[in-house]
Amino acid sequence: MPESIAKGCPEPVRWTGRTLRLLDQRYLPARESYVDCESADDVAGAITDMVVRGAPAIGVAAAFGLALAARADDATVAGLALAGEALKQARPTAVNLAWAVDRVLGRCQTESSLAADVLAEAQAIQAEDLRANHAMARHATECLQGRVNVYTHCNTGSLATAGFGTALGVIRQLKAEDRLGEVYVGETRPWLQGARLTAWELAMDGIHPTLVVDSAAASVMRAGRVDVVITGADRITADGGVLNKIGTYGLAVLARHHGLRMMVVAPMSTVDMDSTSASQIEIEQRPPDEVTTWAGQRHAPQDVAVFNPVFDATPYALIDWIVTEQGVFRPAIA
Ligand code: MRU
Repeated sequence: MPESIAKGCPEPVRWTGRTLRLLDQRYLPARESYVDCESADDVAGAITDMVVRGAPAIGVAAAFGLALAARADDATVAGLALAGEALKQARPTAVNLAWAVDRVLGRCQTESSLAADVLAEAQAIQAEDLRANHAMARHATECLQGRVNVYTHCNTGSLATAGFGTALGVIRQLKAEDRLGEVYVGETRPWLQGARLTAWELAMDGIHPTLVVDSAAASVMRAGRVDVVITGADRITADGGVLNKIGTYGLAVLARHHGLRMMVVAPMSTVDMDSTSASQIEIEQRPPDEVTTWAGQRHAPQDVAVFNPVFDATPYALIDWIVTEQGVFRPAIA
């Protein structure tokens, strides 16, 4: 498969030469609209507000955020470091964000060529992510035999990366190899990345998944409709633990209970060897109204307490394969 972005899917992150144009994922698939960011602060706000989301995509966006900051006439290395700190705080759990910021800042040696150096690094990060997606897809399908029925969670496709996908890249590769069976997509409460984004993105590629509410996963597995759960990751810690969209841990437990395989697909930029254990990472919480309201209408009692973590931690022992562009780690099946 050529190393291009996925068919028909709009680019989530695009450098226009003047602005960073972000596809506004909050309104997809109902409305295809764009947000033009003119500063690093604009980009940080767009990351916090989920205009752009998905670990690799927010890393790429943050790198271009620094490119916007570096264009200012009075830009300095110290000023960029401050902008970088603000970007890192925009969504702290997904490590690709901090990784991309640090990588770009590492390139900032001399103020005379700041703008050009930062832009070149951001473009390199974007191009490398696309290449990594394709490499991961090839490594992943080598682990899977015959026709494969997949359950996936959240959105890990073109919209979440530089343009092909991690878990969705594997689904695309299985299709290209004519080995793709059924694809089940969990709706992924509360933002509905599965229902709104994954179902939409796959359909554009001629893949027609079956959408289920998250709580149907156990029944789908018990009915024998799934061979493997494939997800992305927001951070992989030194102990092989995986932080990913809330619900991933539950899917891993269910997969193990039903004798199914659990595959996590993520670029090396998601691997955080400085964090010893996934269970020790503080997971960001999002506002309670994401859970208590629907389409602007409150459906829960006013004073109900809400626990709304964005991600959860899946231990190494529940994962069969961690696939990166550099190869496959097999924690559970040595
Ligand atoms: O909250 P989101 O939509 O940014 O969460 C995205 C995920 O959890 C993805 O699985 C992860 O970023 C990997 S995507 C390639």
